Amino acid sequence: MSKSYDVVVIGAGPAGYIAAIRAAQHGLRVACIDKWQNFDGSYAFGGTCLNAGCIPSKALLESSELYHRAEHEFKKHGIKTGGVELDIAAMQKRRASIVRQLTGGIAGLFKANKVDGLVGSGKLLAGKKVEFTPVDGEPEIIDAANVILASGSTPIELPFAKFDGEHIVDSWHALEFDAVPERLGVIGAGVIGLELGSVWSRLGSKVTIIEAMHDFLFMADREVAAVAGKDFKKQGLDILLGAKLTGAAVGKGSVTVEFEKEGIPDSLDVDKLVVAVGRRPYTDGLLAEDSGIQLDDRGFIEVDDECRTRVKGVYAVGDCVRGPMLAHKGSEEGVMAADLIAGEIAEVNYDVIPSVIYTAPEIAWVGMTEQEVRESGRDYKTGSFPFAASGRAKAMEQTTGMAKIISAADDDEILGVHIVGPMAGELIGEAVLAMEFDASTEDIQRTIHAHPTLSEAVHEASLAVDKRALNFPNK
Ligand code: FAD
Ligand code: NAI
Repeated sequence: MSKSYDVVVIGAGPAGYIAAIRAAQHGLRVACIDKWQNFDGSYAFGGTCLNAGCIPSKALLESSELYHRAEHEFKKHGIKTGGVELDIAAMQKRRASIVRQLTGGIAGLFKANKVDGLVGSGKLLAGKKVEFTPVDGEPEIIDAANVILASGSTPIELPFAKFDGEHIVDSWHALEFDAVPERLGVIGAGVIGLELGSVWSRLGSKVTIIEAMHDFLFMADREVAAVAGKDFKKQGLDILLGAKLTGAAVGKGSVTVEFEKEGIPDSLDVDKLVVAVGRRPYTDGLLAEDSGIQLDDRGFIEVDDECRTRVKGVYAVGDCVRGPMLAHKGSEEGVMAADLIAGEIAEVNYDVIPSVIYTAPEIAWVGMTEQEVRESGRDYKTGSFPFAASGRAKAMEQTTGMAKIISAADDDEILGVHIVGPMAGELIGEAVLAMEFDASTEDIQRTIHAHPTLSEAVHEASLAVDKRALNFPNK
């Protein structure tokens, strides 16, 4: 007799494993299938985020920033270190150990929540049957009352710069270099390009980033992008805007990168080239031809606002469906799908999803940018506060950047909050909560913020919206 479950989840990234746990918390019988295999041959839950994305990148961002600060900032604090030395093997060992602990943690969470974690591939067949092929075994058919597809995404490969895993690499390989490349080329000044470019630049690489767009960080608020762009330049990141990759040829141990800037052909020799031009939904081998699931013209699984596919009882969540490719977006969709399956009311507020870029300075925002508000035609007011005027930021020696709030002129609604500066990714949480609760700008103004904290910058920015900033002259 074939196995049966109330819910079968395919994919154990942050969208799938969270959906599985939530469904199990509702008392449902749940299996979660994943086939992720690491470079060392081991299988692990956690998907891109834990194995090759969010977590390892943040581990290296932290280590590289500490190295950079020890080299360049400690003296200012009155700390003499002598020569600061880099031990890349130890740094990578720490990164790998954090990943191992967290991915192992998911296996533990599955056990605690009575989710059957199945290692192997899953394929949705017609009639909500799932074919499960264990890594070393024969396929078996599982009956599922409900299925959640959470198969994630994979890096886009450019036809004229194909990955070889050695010289032309994707973000995963670029997280696992065992030596600092002398010259590193990066294609794409998006989130990955900036985060990984920062890591290797701080560790000593000469980093050149080639970006097709003319506007730096086009998706961010212009003021914030300008502050960040200026600082990255000061740090030594060479970002070529309006430059399009036209070819990449691997020679003797190096890569010649051909590109066009303002229509003029140019080239660059690097030791490693990271291609980070976006990710595409990953659905290879996921769907039988008669599964009934539709993909859109970009390969995303078609879903409605509640992540329901066209097949009743089959949901899809995370990077394999429309919307920003962010771990927290996928997790919330996973929670929603599990709650809906359990018969509860659930929704995801797609208007209030925070974005964070973990560079130094960090960049974070929620809601609309000033240009988006302007284009919407709504009258608005803005207020900002520079970290240079924050006592805590000064004490931390991290005074670059500002907090900025955009509010509706008529009813004081908070339309967007944009932060570039220290701990921006932590500070944005307050703004997300305020917007989720429909707080007004005045509500933030009247909320007590501890002194001296970085969060006072958000408070002062809210006061500045009505020209009532107390620790900075109002414009
Ligand atoms: P994934 O994490 O991709 O997981 C999908 C899983 O499904 C995989 O384990 C895969 O093996 C499995 N799978 C697929 N098909 C099958 C099948 N047929 N059978 C069995 N298993 C299958 N996002 C953030 O929010 N913050 C960050 O700081 C951040 N940093 C990032 C840094 C990098 C370098 C990268 C590459 C991404 C980063 N992201 C970040 C994006 C984030 O990793 C993704 O948005 C997130 O992992 C998507 O989650 P998911 O569960 O939808 O998919
Ligand atoms: P991205 O979409 O952020 O940036 C890709 C960049 O490459 C764009 O600026 C684009 O204009 C440029 N580009 C595209 N084709 C090009 C070409 N031929 N030549 C030169 N430039 C070109 O994608 P990225 O950085 O690969 O990240 C993928 C996804 O992973 C993002 O959508 C993001 O959501 C997620 N991610 C999130 C992080 C976070 O939340 N901190 C960190 C890293 C990734």
